[in-house]
Amino acid sequence: MNLDHLADFRRTHRCGDLRREHAGQVVRLCGWVHRLRDHGGVMFLDLRDRAGLVQVIFRPGEGADHPSERARRLGSEFVIAVEGTCVPRPDSMVNLQMPTGTVEVEATGLSVLNDSQTPPFVLEEAPSAGEDLRLEYRYLDLRRPELATVLGMRHRVAQVVRSHLDGQGFWEIETPMLVRPTPEGARDYLVPSRVHPGSFYALPQSPQLYKQLLMVSGMDRYYQLARCLRDEDLRADRQPEHTQIDIEMSFIGEEEVFALIEGLMREVFGRVLSAELAVPFPRMVYRESMDRYGSDKPDLRFDFALTDAADAVRDSGFKVFDETLAAGGSVMLLRWPGGAAFSRKEQDELEDLAKRYGAKGLARTKVTSAGLDGGPAKFLSAAVQQRLVEAAGAAEGDLLCLVADRRDIACRSLGALRSRLGQEWLKGHPDAAKSWRFLWITEFPLFEQDPQTGVLSPAHHLFTMPMEEDLPFLASDPARVRGRLYDLVLNGSELGSGSIRIHRRDIQEAVMQVVGITGEDAERRFGFLLKAFQYGAPPHGGLALGLDRIIMLMAGRSSLRDTIAFPKTTSASSLVDGCPAPVAAEDLRDLKLRVDAGM
Ligand code: AMO
Repeated sequence: MNLDHLADFRRTHRCGDLRREHAGQVVRLCGWVHRLRDHGGVMFLDLRDRAGLVQVIFRPGEGADHPSERARRLGSEFVIAVEGTCVPRPDSMVNLQMPTGTVEVEATGLSVLNDSQTPPFVLEEAPSAGEDLRLEYRYLDLRRPELATVLGMRHRVAQVVRSHLDGQGFWEIETPMLVRPTPEGARDYLVPSRVHPGSFYALPQSPQLYKQLLMVSGMDRYYQLARCLRDEDLRADRQPEHTQIDIEMSFIGEEEVFALIEGLMREVFGRVLSAELAVPFPRMVYRESMDRYGSDKPDLRFDFALTDAADAVRDSGFKVFDETLAAGGSVMLLRWPGGAAFSRKEQDELEDLAKRYGAKGLARTKVTSAGLDGGPAKFLSAAVQQRLVEAAGAAEGDLLCLVADRRDIACRSLGALRSRLGQEWLKGHPDAAKSWRFLWITEFPLFEQDPQTGVLSPAHHLFTMPMEEDLPFLASDPARVRGRLYDLVLNGSELGSGSIRIHRRDIQEAVMQVVGITGEDAERRFGFLLKAFQYGAPPHGGLALGLDRIIMLMAGRSSLRDTIAFPKTTSASSLVDGCPAPVAAEDLRDLKLRVDAGM
């Protein structure tokens, strides 16, 4: 390898920072060879660093050591230092697509700091390279300004969050990474203890219990950009490691939490995206959100609410509707404007989607000038058809989609349709697509009931205070108890979740009892928290916002992976360093562990 000596790699500017005001200055730049073009002896080089690209020109000259001859020998992704003069581009050559497009650098010197093998994919064409390959060479993929910018935005958001919360009197306090295994919902990642063979730490799923203990200790206002680790099945909006903006406060109720977070979001979106958010954010109780939108995280960039069609179709004589209503179920309707033009295939796809959410079928009928056409229309009298059209507020050319089922199934399946069709609708409405529609969802049920077994589990986590008026039902009818829970939703994604917490041992034990955590089990898993509640635990509450999700939405990306420097795949592997990986037998021996991979 023939490297130039490294004395002259100190730079005067970053490539992407050069502007007209630098014209006339001698500059030294360092960066990677992005693109090299030979225009009849003049070499044009796009040089790239974190800040962006700038064009460098090498005029032809004599001798193998002349900068232009050296430039000719460069390869893609060589890392080099260039010295030259920043000059204005001739008017005809100005490129307004590039932030540096009004200038270029006339090179007078070139040093190769390190060469590069041919990259496994062309950076500019990276999106068409396989994602696994890009993840294996993540450090190359991150050289792309498109991805680097997302990490830059993440940094900015973190800075704004820190300074805003500091201004509101919050202390950033670190909680442990090795914690007691007390699963919160997902499976724990476990870490064996060498000093205590047979005992394990868990990696924290969130700092939940520790932030509550900090409230008991009088820390009053806590936050942390907390790494959370969960061994759960992954999707595009989930990673095994994610980061939460984790917040807890004492002596507050819901209003203080909402006001704090609205102020924080306003600051973040204002400072990072120059977007002015309207506050306060709208609020909706869970029940209404499910009824109107079939979802607890509705995307409000489009309306298209569901309609309860029970009254319109009662005693219609159409068996499916009549029997469902007689059995206490619901008939729900989604009107899609212009949907009458959907092809048969598109309609069938909608039905498949509804079925994935548990619907037995999806009745579709078109609104025409002569009444309803297709699907259940032939079983419905003109009067029923008229009532349906009126209930839905439908017009000619609309498609009516109906599901008759248990209410939650009817709502959820039509909610999934609404969300799918809404995404399509947004493609034709760019202004709506670019808007930020925040929403608080409140009054969630405290427990979720498994429809098959009837077993109750905490809807959020065990530590949420029941709503005061529902406290009497905790023992008698826990499924109807609502919690002092709230989710922050943005454009159809759950950005954050939190609650006012239980701060009294008796209520905490009663809630644990409902989900079957009693006596010794409660003591073994949560004894330390119950004990702390006996020493003057103040009323407190908080929430956690998913930082990765916030960045994903702010940067307009569709995968969380794009917001994380070194993400995992959907099978929880890291391709850049090849983990998880087996460990040496002696390491296992030290831990007194034996692996039975065939189990
Ligand atoms: P929860 O589990 O709802 O609450 O998490 C809070 C927020 O964190 C984000 N999030 C995730 N992001 C990426 N990948 C994941 N696997 C993942 N899981 C969650 C979401 C979610 O809204 N301790 C409570 C918070 C509290 O009550 O204060 C908690 O962890 O945006």
